[in-house]
Amino acid sequence: MSKFISLLLVCSPFLLLCNASISGRPYGTFEHPAARARPRFRYWLPDASVDPSTVQNDIRSAANLGIGGIELLPFYNYGGGTPVVDWVKYGFGTPAFNRIFRAALETHRECGLYMDFAMGPNQGQGVPAETDNPGLQWDLRTYSTIVSEDAPFSHSIPGWGSGDLIAAVSALVLSETEKSIPPRAGQGPPYNYTRLVLQHDSLTDLTDSVSKTGALSFSPPAHNTSGHYRIFASYQVLTHAKNLDPDTNATNTIFDNGCYIVDHFDGKGAQVVTDFWDRYILVNGIKELLSEAGNSGWEDSMELLSNVSWSPSLPARFEERWGYSIKPYVPLIIFGNNNINIQSAEPGELQCVLDTEDEGMGYVNAYRSSLRDGYAEYLNVFTNWTQSALQLQHSS
Ligand SMILES: *[C@@H]1O[C@H](CO)[C@@H](O)[C@H](O)[C@H]1NC(C)=O
Ligand SMILES: *[C@@H]1O[C@H](CO)[C@@H](O)[C@H](O)[C@H]1NC(C)=O
Ligand SMILES: *[C@@H]1O[C@H](CO)[C@@H](O)[C@H](O)[C@H]1NC(C)=O
Ligand SMILES: *[C@@H]1O[C@H](CO)[C@@H](O)[C@H](O)[C@H]1NC(C)=O
Ligand SMILES: *[C@@H]1O[C@H](CO)[C@@H](O)[C@H](O)[C@H]1NC(C)=O
Repeated sequence: MSKFISLLLVCSPFLLLCNASISGRPYGTFEHPAARARPRFRYWLPDASVDPSTVQNDIRSAANLGIGGIELLPFYNYGGGTPVVDWVKYGFGTPAFNRIFRAALETHRECGLYMDFAMGPNQGQGVPAETDNPGLQWDLRTYSTIVSEDAPFSHSIPGWGSGDLIAAVSALVLSETEKSIPPRAGQGPPYNYTRLVLQHDSLTDLTDSVSKTGALSFSPPAHNTSGHYRIFASYQVLTHAKNLDPDTNATNTIFDNGCYIVDHFDGKGAQVVTDFWDRYILVNGIKELLSEAGNSGWEDSMELLSNVSWSPSLPARFEERWGYSIKPYVPLIIFGNNNINIQSAEPGELQCVLDTEDEGMGYVNAYRSSLRDGYAEYLNVFTNWTQSALQLQHSS
């Protein structure tokens, strides 16, 4: 994953030089830029077992080179692999981590610098949490089956039991075509998927007809096409994907779990992170120190993986914005809506399009737009929190 990490110095404060009144902060002059306007060094802390004085000396020597501060990123074990230290003891937000965090801030204050701080380890996507916290990352998983023309469907819907049922949909499939995506750089086998063309008017939401035990009775309506009916069932699940995974099976405290990636498409996800900071990091004077010597709370590239970018709040957010239910259209969003930056070579096994001029893209765009609204809410929670709790900024 580390190859996606930007190695650039963070120079964005320079952009503010041309309009120093943007946030009312003094940025100095071009010849003598103030600390907040000078470049920052990204500082990868390999783990919190090191002597805090090592970190302090690094900050002092970087200060001598003229930096405005460091961007502290606990890039534990360089972002993955087998742990080389005990991450229950040295994990994010532990007393050992907090000692280093405090030491780094004190050195910034001593040198007149301001520190950026990642909101979690590695890419900053999550923190230690209880496994059943609904603010953790969710995925949408879809199962589908062909309905025989001779016998009506009368049994469990596909995938029953794999998560919370979001939508059960029937549709007339006009054609099924096997497709493939050539391997990247000619390496490995091609990626295969099936493309289904669905008849627009046939999409039917059957979710309310599914019994409490997952049973559904469905008789395919008569039609004069050469196609056939399919039933699609989509379930939401907590992924429990981690941005820090200690190699332990202990379950005594939340630190035993490592760090879970949070829901990035709802304010609840950001709330998991800010609650953790309030409870475990901003204690014993660190809050005041951070407010004094901090610059921006920060999240790096979003490297979360899923089958479909999803949040439990998405159906309600969608209906409120667009005035109709997303449920009959869920089959249209199950392809190419995972992490488009790092999963574009694996868009999904089933692509459903409509027999209309835009192939159903309007519905997909409505979903993406609602996802965007959820992400904006996620960012707002961070922005509000860094502003109200610390009088600082959030950057992402
Ligand atoms: C895709 O299909 C081709 C041709 O049948 C096969 O050689 C290849 O292994 C398949 N790819 C995967 C990832 O299974
Ligand atoms: C096929 O059925 C549809 C309605 O389901 C109807 O509108 C259409 O005229 C029919 N076409 C033929 C060729 O029978
Ligand atoms: C945790 O449990 C799994 C499954 O039982 C086992 O394979 C693994 O070795 C255990 N890890 C540790 C660190 O004990
Ligand atoms: C996608 O869903 C399958 C189960 O259908 C699961 O095994 C897999 O881990 C999921 N992929 C990602 C990237 O989460
Ligand atoms: C952020 O704060 C603004 C102003 O105080 C408020 O209107 C907004 O609802 C808050 N947003 C979130 C997501 O908390």
